[in-house]
Amino acid sequence: MTKDFDSNDFSSFVSSRRSTRDFQSTPIPDKLIEEIIADGLTSPSWSNTRPFVVAVAKDDVRDRISKEFLSRFEAIKSARGEGFFAKIKAILRRKGLPTSNWLIIRPYHKDLVPRSKRVGKEMLAHIGIERGDKEGRDAFWARNYEFFGAPVEMFVFTHKSLGKFATSDAGLFMQNLMLSAHSKGLGTCAQGSVAVWEDVVRKEFSISKKYSLLCGICLGYPSEGKINSFNAHRIAPSEIIAPVKK
Ligand SMILES: Cc1cc2nc3c(=O)[nH]c(=O)nc-3n(C[C@H](O)[C@H](O)[C@H](O)COP(=O)(O)O)c2cc1C
Repeated sequence: MTKDFDSNDFSSFVSSRRSTRDFQSTPIPDKLIEEIIADGLTSPSWSNTRPFVVAVAKDDVRDRISKEFLSRFEAIKSARGEGFFAKIKAILRRKGLPTSNWLIIRPYHKDLVPRSKRVGKEMLAHIGIERGDKEGRDAFWARNYEFFGAPVEMFVFTHKSLGKFATSDAGLFMQNLMLSAHSKGLGTCAQGSVAVWEDVVRKEFSISKKYSLLCGICLGYPSEGKINSFNAHRIAPSEIIAPVKK
């Protein structure tokens, strides 16, 4: 069968996508947003059900959500506890702030801690924040709630009935969408950090309770900021290929 596409550049293209964590404020036309969502929808899907919805926050909606997230983050900053998620946990317990997603504030399993620690450590070193500099780390983390300056934040919700298959479908959609954005010179960053306060997003959009918030994706034109030249470590295939039983 003859191919009607050129796959030669795929590896270099796909490996050149990196999370963007500092954006220009240049607005993104609706048509462009729709195009990348359409590309997202070329992903495979469980029985073609597309069990997800996307809330696209821009302009005033984006600003209101960001403001509310930042004020909640300010509230938790005063809480004691080592990491960001420990702080959220502490404040939620004490002040009863609503949350929708307890999963993301659970500590990582020890199997996964080394990888997570590595990226955190290397990213902070890249932008010159010392491990012990709590204020610097908090300020950097707070940038999540400004969507790193991106003019658009997309909130991806998954249909609760399909459990992990809905999550998988949304992930495939997100990856196609992020690669599409990359092909058009736009930057993205998936953001689990914005999935804590679903109520804030629901206040702005009409979304069925059958869906729950998985994560956000910020979208915009990358700035020249130093953080955008950070290259997260890639593990080797051998680290994830299961050994055959002997
Ligand atoms: C579901 C998901 C949630 C993520 N949440 C965040 C986040 O809240 N903040 C952040 O800065 N990066 C976040 N990331 C980006 C990862 O840290 C990043 O993809 C990883 O370090 C690999 O780097 P790369 O995207 O540049 O290849 C998230 C990625 C995924 C897939």
